[in-house]
Amino acid sequence: MTSFPTRRLRRLRNTEKMRELVQETYLSPKDLICPVFVQEDIETKKQAESMPAIERLPLSDVTNEVQEISDLGIPAIMLFGIPKSKDDEGNSAFADDGIVQKAISDIRKSFDDKIVIMSDVCLCQYTSSGHCGIIKDKKIHNDSSIATLAKIAVSQAKAGVDVVSPSAMMDGQVVAIRQSLDDAGFTDVAIMSHSAKHRSHFYSPFRDVAHCAPQFGDRKSYQVPYTNPREALREVETDINEGVDIVMIKPALSYLDLIAETKKRFNVPVSAYSVSGEYALVKAAANQGWVDEKDMTNEILYSIKRAGADMIVTYFAKSFASSFQG
Ligand code: PBG
Repeated sequence: MTSFPTRRLRRLRNTEKMRELVQETYLSPKDLICPVFVQEDIETKKQAESMPAIERLPLSDVTNEVQEISDLGIPAIMLFGIPKSKDDEGNSAFADDGIVQKAISDIRKSFDDKIVIMSDVCLCQYTSSGHCGIIKDKKIHNDSSIATLAKIAVSQAKAGVDVVSPSAMMDGQVVAIRQSLDDAGFTDVAIMSHSAKHRSHFYSPFRDVAHCAPQFGDRKSYQVPYTNPREALREVETDINEGVDIVMIKPALSYLDLIAETKKRFNVPVSAYSVSGEYALVKAAANQGWVDEKDMTNEILYSIKRAGADMIVTYFAKSFASSFQG
């Protein structure tokens, strides 16, 4: 008797063409959503300290940036605004002439339906507290917060947004937004909720870029603890029951189990947000020469896709797309 192996999986790995033939997971720029930061009180682009190669843009640069993203074959952008003034009610978040509303309307005018315009719906960049909701009696008050989030969504819809993306983790935010959009006649505006947004240290570079760090306390009373996967899935289920169009798991890389489970259990499109900290880790190591940025990025993004994400919000969108070969 020979002791040769009879099952030889390496037969399928022998040549480049054979490997192509059996490839199971594909990723293309079409799967990606590119974040765009627009800041009200600046005249020229500002490099983000904590996120190399990411910039905060003045309004006048936004359409050029979107052109570049669209030319790379990326179908969608996610807008984040940095207003010049903050207050207790987050008034600049839902002003018709707010920075995000202006950016949406400029992009809509230049691109019509050639790009999907998504916009963050949250309060932390706009409130003096830096919290994602309205403070009452020193607490983040759920129901006044969702009323404000609904106002933000409607103001963005008026400006021409395609998809609003609530990220505040307030209970009932999806249904409140859906009702207000429908009442205002925006039945075609979709909702992509940050359904299971975890209380994560991976957001710290973003807070520095978007000027939205909480001024007291933390986000533990609204974001999901990373120890509680069943609670995260309950968040997803609740959003579906409230009429969400696309659910999101956030962050992505440390939460692949939840992406996979969400895909298996529910029949809605699943997005994953590969957040600022995931980007910063790769950038920092690559800058030291410890890892190859492109190889590491590919492996991370393919893993998120393999886990079940139908689309990925990522700061690597442009760099992935620019080296993508069909
Ligand atoms: C604000 C918001 C945050 C992120 C997206 N929207 C920060 C936070 O919740 O503290 C993080 C995104 C990233 O880290 O890339 N609600």
